[in-house]
Amino acid sequence: LAVPVATAAAGAPAVIAHRGSSGVVPENTLAAVRQAVRHRADVVENDIQRTKDGELVIVHDTTLARTTDVEAVFPERAPWNVGDFTLAEIKRLDAGSWFAPEFAGERVPTLREWGEAVGARAKMLLEPKAPELYPGIEKDLDRELRTVPVFRAALRGERIVVQSFNHPWLRGYHELAPEVPVGLLFGTKPTATDIEQAAAWADQVNPAFKVIDEATVDLVHGQGMEIHVWTVNDGQGMRTARNWGVDGIITNYPQVLRDLLRD
Ligand code: G3P
Ligand code: CA
Repeated sequence: LAVPVATAAAGAPAVIAHRGSSGVVPENTLAAVRQAVRHRADVVENDIQRTKDGELVIVHDTTLARTTDVEAVFPERAPWNVGDFTLAEIKRLDAGSWFAPEFAGERVPTLREWGEAVGARAKMLLEPKAPELYPGIEKDLDRELRTVPVFRAALRGERIVVQSFNHPWLRGYHELAPEVPVGLLFGTKPTATDIEQAAAWADQVNPAFKVIDEATVDLVHGQGMEIHVWTVNDGQGMRTARNWGVDGIITNYPQVLRDLLRD
């Protein structure tokens, strides 16, 4: 008898599309979400910031320079900080051509547009980026998740996690929305004390793969939390992370990880 897919995949790490399928499609665009769904990602990760007029948008860098044509459209507005532009201005920008000409016309999505593109097709890993630049963004995020139907449905289905490198900010968000699971991002190796303290309120510890070892995975699991590692783009790293027993692998190439987990 053939082994059912669900059984074969039991215990396998979640396939998490980093900024969407950002290895092959411009990051944090709706095209990147659609490609991640086609690649059968379990989860789509994004980065959230806020416009001058208070809209939540999906963009990684705190300036628009790298991933849009903002320098050409608004040459006098250096350094092109996201928070200095209105949504209408940002919607004029091309967020695809920098990656490849075939993606010309892609736009910076709002959080709501991004959520509707994901829908119930995958889980959502939301990362408010540099929230210290956007006072009160935790309230904006909370309002959006509680009022927009696609997010309300995702919350009911336990399909949303919010993560951040800014741990005090994330703690504040958690106090506002204690029912939403949260993950602490670490760029350096979390110590046993970090992990123990995180367990008092967080659900996930999400470190850079390159800074951890198998003992870190065991420590996180020993505290009853999940561990999701980033950004793993090569097969050897994916196999190592899987063998260590991580709960999720965040990658620019979800199709590569999906194929590897099937073997
Ligand atoms: O999901 C983890 C990862 O996204 C954190 O790094 O810089 O890509 O947002 P960054
Ligand atoms: Ca991110």
